[in-house]
Amino acid sequence: MKKTLTVILFAFTITLLWACSDDDNTPNTNGNTELPKLDIANLREAPFKIGAAVSVNPLKNDTKYRDILIKEFSSITAENAMKMSVISKGKGQYNFTDADYIVDFAHQNNMRVHGHTLIWYRETPSWITSFTGTKDDWKNLMKQYIQDVVTHFKGKVASWDVVNEVIMDDGTYRPCVWLTNIGTEYIELAFQYAHEADPDAILFYNEYGQEYSHAKNVAINKLVDELLAKNVPLHGIGLQMHTDINKLEDRIKYAIRAAAARNIQVHVSELDVSVNPENKADVTFTDALAKKQQDIYRYITQGMMGIPQGLQFGITMWGVTDQYSWRYNSPDWVLPFSDKYERKSAYDGFLQGFYK
Ligand code: XIL
Repeated sequence: MKKTLTVILFAFTITLLWACSDDDNTPNTNGNTELPKLDIANLREAPFKIGAAVSVNPLKNDTKYRDILIKEFSSITAENAMKMSVISKGKGQYNFTDADYIVDFAHQNNMRVHGHTLIWYRETPSWITSFTGTKDDWKNLMKQYIQDVVTHFKGKVASWDVVNEVIMDDGTYRPCVWLTNIGTEYIELAFQYAHEADPDAILFYNEYGQEYSHAKNVAINKLVDELLAKNVPLHGIGLQMHTDINKLEDRIKYAIRAAAARNIQVHVSELDVSVNPENKADVTFTDALAKKQQDIYRYITQGMMGIPQGLQFGITMWGVTDQYSWRYNSPDWVLPFSDKYERKSAYDGFLQGFYK
């Protein structure tokens, strides 16, 4: 009898040990698989400013869009309304209607405005691309545009992307009318002109791809170092961060750290995280993709939390909800808010990264 009982007890113990083993891949976390996250009511309470790129149409016509902006965001970038082709209608002629509407909305709701963008190889109006003149004529053309626009928004727009996307992925200068007609000096001149028009504005060089192209990252930081050594009024680096679920944690964090190592402001300026980087037509937004996206959002905030507080200019998302993202029709679901205005797991990833 005693022997039978021992055998039963032994078999029971073995079964129990087997059931508790890791063979079924159940993590030993006492049932808690969630990472801790910063306990805040909305993104306005985050340790630094969190912004969104906005468009005038939904801002005027969609109450939910306005409400979520007011509730969650403390900074605004005009997604398109401050681009040269929208604003510039001829020499000395401007259309500021949409940009002014966005700026007024931001100020009424206690938000910082980030200006995007003064000089970009894209969105240059045809009256400029077809302009002919000497090097000095081109300098004066650029000077007048920059100074008229920066003066118009002086005291209302806190910061500017002065130049956008000036280096290629291989590290060389990107061709544009300004490079052709002025030479590489156009970059420092753009900063100088903007600074003359508004000495209080924080001036950025904004660029994409820093988190995946090492050659580009090195070239960007070299250019920044050269400009700073010449005392060019450059105050920050914008990392656009149009990124995706296949990008690497270490590279993302390295790019943020490398920018901060210049001891200037760091702005993650156009954040979105694609779950369909290959633009496949038949993709659905599964839980597995949502989890990967959450991880990338966490790496971004962790990266920013890893640099000195005084250099954390902020993180701006490129859009407000998935529906209004420029990548929505890929199809893709790139932002922390769904097209139903619900917080996605990406939003939790964002808060996890803030947790210290
Ligand atoms: C994009 C806008 O989101 C689109 O609506 C527009 O059609 C094209 O430009 N880098 C930038 C942004 O600096 O200005 C771009 O915005 C996205 C890539």
